[in-house]
Amino acid sequence: MTTVHRKAHFNAAHRLFRPDWDDAKNAEIFGKCSNPNYHGHNYELVVHVTGDIDPETGFVIDMKILKQIIYEEVEVAFDHKNLNVEVAEFRNLNPTAENIAKVIWHKIRKKLDRALTLSVTLYETPRNFVTYTEN
Ligand code: NI
Repeated sequence: MTTVHRKAHFNAAHRLFRPDWDDAKNAEIFGKCSNPNYHGHNYELVVHVTGDIDPETGFVIDMKILKQIIYEEVEVAFDHKNLNVEVAEFRNLNPTAENIAKVIWHKIRKKLDRALTLSVTLYETPRNFVTYTEN
């Protein structure tokens, strides 16, 4: 098996909070990311696609196609958006790096050939990042 990787980037605002917790509890658990007035992150995404090399093309996946999927499903959907307010998936889902990676995985997964395996790594800061995958 071979894994190909494609990087992408988006800027987005968010707030981590639970509406059933008061401000003190939200601040205790979510820290600065619970600022009621939102704040931004420069998110870096790495999409990993694993599969066999197609003997005809020599590709696991045509990178032009993967680039277009990431552009439509992630960059158009999330870049320069307030995730809590403007992105339907986070209306009732806390936009942690974990949950953002999970949502991205599902959006890209539905566009890929079933024979390919997908995982996504999302950097919220250069030091904090998560990887999400499912079978
Ligand atoms: Ni944050």
